Amino acid sequence: MKCFNAYENEDMTKITGETLRPGGFKLTEKGIQFCKISSKDYVLDLGCGQGATVNYLFKKHNINAIGIDPSVKLIKIAKEKYGHKQFFIGDGNNIPFQNNSFNCVFAECTLSLMDNLECTLKQVYRVLKDEGWFIITDVYAQNPNEVNLLSQFSFNSCIRNLHNLEKLQEKLKILGFDIIFSEDYSIFLKELFVKIGFTYGTMGMFWNTTTQGCIDGYEFQKALKPCKPGYFMMVARKN
Ligand SMILES: C[S@@+](CC[C@H](N)C(=O)[O-])C[C@H]1O[C@@H](n2cnc3c(N)ncnc32)[C@H](O)[C@@H]1O
Repeated sequence: MKCFNAYENEDMTKITGETLRPGGFKLTEKGIQFCKISSKDYVLDLGCGQGATVNYLFKKHNINAIGIDPSVKLIKIAKEKYGHKQFFIGDGNNIPFQNNSFNCVFAECTLSLMDNLECTLKQVYRVLKDEGWFIITDVYAQNPNEVNLLSQFSFNSCIRNLHNLEKLQEKLKILGFDIIFSEDYSIFLKELFVKIGFTYGTMGMFWNTTTQGCIDGYEFQKALKPCKPGYFMMVARKN
């Protein structure tokens, strides 16, 4: 049981803004352009948080998307901000939609939070139409040999579950996805860390604040550093 959901904390929103991830909408836009997502497409935002991407897709591109997230608090915020129709409580381990429903699934900084990654990837494959796009942005370990210590820090944040990029790609391929591209965008994570440094003084203090003392933020930062956290965008396609 994880003791604290960092994304429900207002301190997190103050740092990241309405998008609870590094880079804001820059990679969302890149995904839309690259995959040529249009208003004819059905789009799912898996782990939609406060609903910022669903709103962006509609406002900027007239794309009707649905967002799911297990957090009652975040779905309530999304509904209050952007309307009730397109947001649902839902979990990546059991996506509440029929097979072959979507042309595109976004997972923006959410796969790293899944208790059972393989199960979630299977679920995404199931709800995508043939040749549907899977647009992933998330944190990863540039030094994956060092990640073992992170799991002892029990709080709900993507940063304690950094992906191993090679393993993620292998899993996707085994399930029947083609990897169309995978690019490094660690610069966005770096920018976020710099902003945190200016606001909180140290990363340790930030972790202490956003987890409300649920973990020792300084010990966590000590364990995190050798993993060399980075950020990536990957586009996969159901084959
Ligand atoms: C880093 S936030 C990103 C939120 C949103 N995608 C954004 O970028 O603004 C991670 C989100 O994943 C959600 N999440 C955690 N576990 C999940 C699960 N099992 N299935 C779906 N979403 C989950 C969290 O509630 C949180 O909203």
